[in-house]
Amino acid sequence: TPDIPVANINAHLQQLQSIGNRPSPSGAYTNALNYVKAKLDAAGYSTRTQSFTYNGQTHTNLIADWTGGPASPTVMLGGHLDSVAAGPGINDNGSGSASLLEVALTLAARNPTLTKHVRFAWWGAEELGMRGSTYYVQNGGAAGVETYLNFDMTASPNAGYFVYDDDPALQKLFNDYYATLNVPTEIETEGDGRSDHTPFKNAGVRVGGVFTGAETVKSAAQAQKWGGTAGQAFDRCYHSACDTYPSNVNTTALDRNADGIAYVLWKLAVGQGPAPT
Ligand code: PHE
Ligand code: CA
Ligand code: ZN
Ligand code: ZN
Ligand code: ZN
Repeated sequence: TPDIPVANINAHLQQLQSIGNRPSPSGAYTNALNYVKAKLDAAGYSTRTQSFTYNGQTHTNLIADWTGGPASPTVMLGGHLDSVAAGPGINDNGSGSASLLEVALTLAARNPTLTKHVRFAWWGAEELGMRGSTYYVQNGGAAGVETYLNFDMTASPNAGYFVYDDDPALQKLFNDYYATLNVPTEIETEGDGRSDHTPFKNAGVRVGGVFTGAETVKSAAQAQKWGGTAGQAFDRCYHSACDTYPSNVNTTALDRNADGIAYVLWKLAVGQGPAPT
């Protein structure tokens, strides 16, 4: 299982910071989407944009299929690319977006033998009520998807390590990964129903993911086991102008979680034997 280079994730975050606040829809959102799409296209992904109307405006998802594996079943990984209007959304959710991009590029570079189809998504309009992922699922997107993994806020500055408990097998895979790092985890509860895994779960797809905390305050016990500051929010800049690069990024958490995405993806979808030529 590959080590995802955190320096490359940081470079993507720096790019998102320079693009600026990217609420859906906006020119900055489009610029961010085009940045991600160009990297994926160059790496050999089959990409498409999916536009939809919400509240009289046109929003866009980005979907990327890896061409190197079987056509089905599908393991899908996603996160929202839009920010709130108030800030540049570097932790929420540049972190998940940039990590998924780097995992996707690493998958393409390694080109392992796959037992599953692998698809990535960058959702629009999550901050308006999970509109992009909801639209995708309502229009048949969950067909053939056996697993959906969601990454929304993976680098909170005062990080916790929270694992979605929606599916026990997926929860165990992430916990197995953190056990290799000797990092204790807790069950994710702050985000229940609040991010793009929700429409997939409601459609009967098993879902998983990790999260480093939003506006909830870190307890003394949590600071004991994870470090950081008790009595402060996991992300004091949540939905604020100060959700910026690099000040609002916990590079350790970012790195650990990106490597965890790769660990779980490899467990789920990578088979034995030589890579296809
Ligand atoms: N979806 C929330 C947001 O974007 C943040 C969140 C993600 C909260 C995951 C909890 C769990 O604001
Ligand atoms: Ca790494
Ligand atoms: Zn948010
Ligand atoms: Zn979010
Ligand atoms: Zn939960």
